[in-house]
Amino acid sequence: MATKINGVKGMNDLLPGQAARWQEMEAVAREVFALYGYREVRTPVVEPAQLFARGVGEATDIVKKEMYVFEDKGEDLLALRPEGTAGTVRAFIEHGAFVEGPQKWFYMGPMFRRERPQKGRYRQFHQIGCEAFGVAEPFIDAEQIALLDDYFARLGVRAELKLNTVGDGSCRPAYLQDLRAYLASRKGELCPDCNERMERNPLRVLDCKVESCQPVLAEAPRLLERLCPECAAHFDAVRSGLDALGVRYTVDTRLVRGLDYYVRTAYEFTSDALGSQSAVAGGGRYDGLVETLGGPPTPGIGFALGQERLAMILEKAGRAAPERKPVVFFVSADADGAREALRRAAELRRAGIACELDPRGGKMKAQFKQAERVGARYALVLGGNEVATGQAKLKDLATREETPVALAELVARVR
Ligand code: HAM
Repeated sequence: MATKINGVKGMNDLLPGQAARWQEMEAVAREVFALYGYREVRTPVVEPAQLFARGVGEATDIVKKEMYVFEDKGEDLLALRPEGTAGTVRAFIEHGAFVEGPQKWFYMGPMFRRERPQKGRYRQFHQIGCEAFGVAEPFIDAEQIALLDDYFARLGVRAELKLNTVGDGSCRPAYLQDLRAYLASRKGELCPDCNERMERNPLRVLDCKVESCQPVLAEAPRLLERLCPECAAHFDAVRSGLDALGVRYTVDTRLVRGLDYYVRTAYEFTSDALGSQSAVAGGGRYDGLVETLGGPPTPGIGFALGQERLAMILEKAGRAAPERKPVVFFVSADADGAREALRRAAELRRAGIACELDPRGGKMKAQFKQAERVGARYALVLGGNEVATGQAKLKDLATREETPVALAELVARVR
């Protein structure tokens, strides 16, 4: 045998047994998102690398360390998309969608980040995301968060909402200056990672999970107390919108996001079922992004949820994936029966009834075994005798009960 070739590290296969759960996740997303007026967009997996440098931010870990970048045969510098927002915004601008007024779009598909693989963190992972363009008012923030809350409820998933505001261009710079100064004053008590991030990306320092950093971070100045009046009013309105919708949340003043485009609203849904990579979804407002990427000033807000992580939660909750099983399994006794089985199976399938047969034929006992293995509800034995009389027996594989059935009425009877 030739040497076998394994898949790429951190990139997973999704086998048929697991796929049903993903299909459910996606079907429920389509259903819920449509109720809120979100329409699907599909953009390429590959984009100009520049899009993410400018969109997500040159200083972020995602762009600096984790992006798969390659030269397209000595021409353009391309990247596998590390997230969905930048590409969606690019398409929104490129196709002039902004002339039609506010738009709500959603997407689903693979994203790529060259992170250190671990539980809940992969190099190819999948997101389902929503982006709402053109509305600056805070009620859309609340509506979108409620959508995600509804979505989780429909799937029977319990996730905790953490809400924060990251301010905007008028209040954040002064805060960052204070934060830097504070962090620098307690440099010696912070871990090497924090020390490295302090200058470049001080907000990220607040997100540090290292035990010894916690006392310092707990005393750090808080943006929430230094918001400009506009950002404060926006945050209050988002909160009252969520209250009105009955969505429960906690304000987490240390919640920061790993992408640079956010202003004001930032949020995450987390679950205890996930361990250290606890965020199942994250998002926020990005009012400057469309303009940064060459479009007209257009506010926006969005989120993405991680499908691998959601699948882990569903699995842990013991939610069985609803896989479609055959209703009838044809067991053939001889060559005539096998031919009839093929014909009858085609007939049932045309009528929308799932059925199976074992094309290898062989011993009937083995065929019955196969019927049980695939989880069929009934078995139907066909041989020369059944073909000649047009009569057969439908055997309930759970109760072992047999019911006579005329082959001509098979579709109606099985239904
Ligand atoms: P993000 O927080 O980077 O946001 O990713 C969103 C979700 O994707 C995370 O909460 C997590 O569930 C999942 N995820 C991220 N990285 C990985 C990974 N390496 N392995 C497995 N799952 C992962 C964004 O990507 C933004 N584009 C969200 C957004 C949309 N903001 C506005 N619009």
